[in-house]
Amino acid sequence: MDRRMRCRLATDDDRNAIYALRHEVYARELRQHPENAEERLSDSLDRDNVYVVVVIDEAIAGFVSITPPRNGVYSVDKYLRREEMPFALDERTWEIRILTVVAEHRGGIVASLLMYAALRWVEAHGGRRIISIGRREVREIYVKAGLTPYGREFQSGIVSFMLMSGLVPAIREGIDRSILTRLERAVVWDLAIPFHQPAECFHGGAFFEAVGDGFERLDRSTSVINADVLDAWFPPSPDVISALSEYLPWLLRTSPPVGCEGMIRTIASARGVDHDCILPGAGSSSLIYLALREWLTPRSRVLLPDPAYGEYAHILEKVIRCRVDRLVLSRDDQYRLNVQRLLRSGYDLIVLVNPNSPTGGHVRRDELEAFLREVPAKTLVWIDETYVDYVGSEQSLEQFAVTRENVVICKSMSKVYALSGARCAYLCASPHLLETLRSITPPWAVSLPGQVAAVAALRDPLYYAERYRQTHELRAELSNALAALDLDVVPSKANFLLCHLPAEGPSAADIVARCREHGLFIRDTSNMGVSHAVRIAVKDHPTIEQMAGILRKVLALQVA
Ligand SMILES: Cc1ncc(COP(=O)(O)O)c(C=O)c1O
Repeated sequence: MDRRMRCRLATDDDRNAIYALRHEVYARELRQHPENAEERLSDSLDRDNVYVVVVIDEAIAGFVSITPPRNGVYSVDKYLRREEMPFALDERTWEIRILTVVAEHRGGIVASLLMYAALRWVEAHGGRRIISIGRREVREIYVKAGLTPYGREFQSGIVSFMLMSGLVPAIREGIDRSILTRLERAVVWDLAIPFHQPAECFHGGAFFEAVGDGFERLDRSTSVINADVLDAWFPPSPDVISALSEYLPWLLRTSPPVGCEGMIRTIASARGVDHDCILPGAGSSSLIYLALREWLTPRSRVLLPDPAYGEYAHILEKVIRCRVDRLVLSRDDQYRLNVQRLLRSGYDLIVLVNPNSPTGGHVRRDELEAFLREVPAKTLVWIDETYVDYVGSEQSLEQFAVTRENVVICKSMSKVYALSGARCAYLCASPHLLETLRSITPPWAVSLPGQVAAVAALRDPLYYAERYRQTHELRAELSNALAALDLDVVPSKANFLLCHLPAEGPSAADIVARCREHGLFIRDTSNMGVSHAVRIAVKDHPTIEQMAGILRKVLALQVA
């Protein structure tokens, strides 16, 4: 029999047991209430609350009641008038009450588990404040759970209660990670919300604070410099613009081809692979989430160069929660990746971003092919080629990947076709790797304007080749401008530059904040694995001059 603890919502049967246990503990044991003939205790709040229970060997070991703000009535109302409360109770205030552990399980982790489950419940439902009235004798359990006693005590029968409260983010912030690990190991978590609060990944795109993400002032898009994201500095091919503008009303109101069939055919022909080697998606981000969550479990092992595009560490460690080993790239070696160092067995997946972000470093195709021939067959290799066309489309491993059992190319069309807003991307691999993913891809995965834009872009390679050539010139110009400001620029093959800030100077966060005051958005790379550095996207010539001017001002200001 599974002796492990289970944590779940109380069923109707559990409720009967809970009401009997309440009588047992609060009437018979603590004498808060008189005993009654039914030997059950329940009250009006039981109509709207939920109970979370911890069950061991099919028997309830403890429970806690959670009252939602829906009816605006809490147990604490019996003891304190609202004007007497040291804080306001509003529609985001939840009450946790009757934390109870049956006698034989006291002193263990049941109480902590119940309190954590209650916090997760409130947090996941958008609660902001937790209030609680706790017995004075078990005050420490509440304090340990992050609640603050407010010094108000009330009597119920012969039992003394205290008012406690806390704000959900502060309670979350104060959680001891080692206790959380212990709880997670000990419990079978059967609540419909995840044990861990889902984490958010930090991205660029802060410039939308200036433009307004409600789009009321799109005219501002021309007055901010969004060098914190790596969108193309050039517009999409004129063919893309004319196809979209000529047919826009129809494109917006019409359902697209269900499986992006025409887009797939065009990609396959442009890349010289079979159409069943292509799986489309609304941006490579959607494909990263689709594929990695399908293929990996918390028991998987992944090897990831560091630094690398931050979304990978996020989804692997925070979403899938698998084990990730880092292959640390050294600044002394300009973050170059020696692929031979990746030849280790025991990994389910190796992730490579080539060219890498935020460094811009690139490993040549012949070197990578030699490495991929040696990788153990059981290890899948995911190569993210978001920026490869800036190096040269002949550097892509798409045609090689389709001949292998364990190589997947992830190809965004955002940054090299100037289509970040259209959300077009695809995976390219041997069909057997895409079969299952295809069956869980929703219909109409890419919007009709997106599909039309992707097709028109792929049919105009000459336009883009010229833009990539110009990008190299502009990157050299930006690099010279940054070096002239005493920044240590890492050589890059893509449309962005990583630069280290002077060791004794102000922090990356300071510089980023000051640039923002001048309408320039750049990226602090500390949460991408490179500290005291910033990443700046290549822009057109006048914008580079403007960016250099702003940085000169900001850096001079900092030195003064
Ligand atoms: C390396 C890399 N991969 C994937 C993406 C996601 O791109 P998208 O979802 O627009 O295709 C980005 C975006 O910055 C990136 O830098």
